[in-house]
Amino acid sequence: MAQRLTTEPSAQVREIIAALEACAKNRTVLEIACGPGYWTRHVAPLAHKNIATDYSEEMLGFARAQQLPNACFIHDDAYQLKKVDTDDLEFGFAMHWVSHIPMARWAEFFRAFHARLKPGAKVLLADDIHRPNDTDPYYSKLETRDSFEIRHLPDGSSYEIVKTYFTPEQLHALLHPYAENIDIHFERPRWWLTYDVKK
Ligand SMILES: C[S@@+](CC[C@H](N)C(=O)[O-])C[C@H]1O[C@@H](n2cnc3c(N)ncnc32)[C@H](O)[C@@H]1O
Repeated sequence: MAQRLTTEPSAQVREIIAALEACAKNRTVLEIACGPGYWTRHVAPLAHKNIATDYSEEMLGFARAQQLPNACFIHDDAYQLKKVDTDDLEFGFAMHWVSHIPMARWAEFFRAFHARLKPGAKVLLADDIHRPNDTDPYYSKLETRDSFEIRHLPDGSSYEIVKTYFTPEQLHALLHPYAENIDIHFERPRWWLTYDVKK
């Protein structure tokens, strides 16, 4: 994943970066599941402060190694955010994270996330749209409302991960209880959206 730090951004990625920059400029920012800090490096230099969280120390190591101005990397669980000890951050974002949230934990995540933000704060989310020619099988399990994929690691091992490919209608319905002014951009390879946290 760290390799992605050096790849040239596509037109869509540049569009999303521009939206992130506009939302983050001179604001206090909370980033969920920052991974190696690909998006952080565009946001943090412009933000007043970017608190970036992830549950993987390995990912946080890549992110911290970039030595980004105004960035503070915290090891924290996105469903709890206990180490983010504030409730008035002005902008929140999460990239390629919400597709991994089991439906049974959707409300838990959004309660924790929004509790760290100001009422009315802007949020930006982005994630993958399924590609029709994608050869990775994804499958559902009757006992959950989720779909899953198998991920293969370079050492030959593999693991199962929740991966939901939302439609715009699903995103709207799932966010409606918490969000106003939902603005969804739905174009392959990924959707992205903004909303204001309900006051
Ligand atoms: C697909 S990656 C996205 C990384 C980054 N946002 C990006 O777009 O490049 C998902 C990230 O979620 C993190 N993650 C998984 N479970 C988490 C949890 N419970 N709390 C916080 N981060 C978690 C993983 O460590 C990983 O860095």
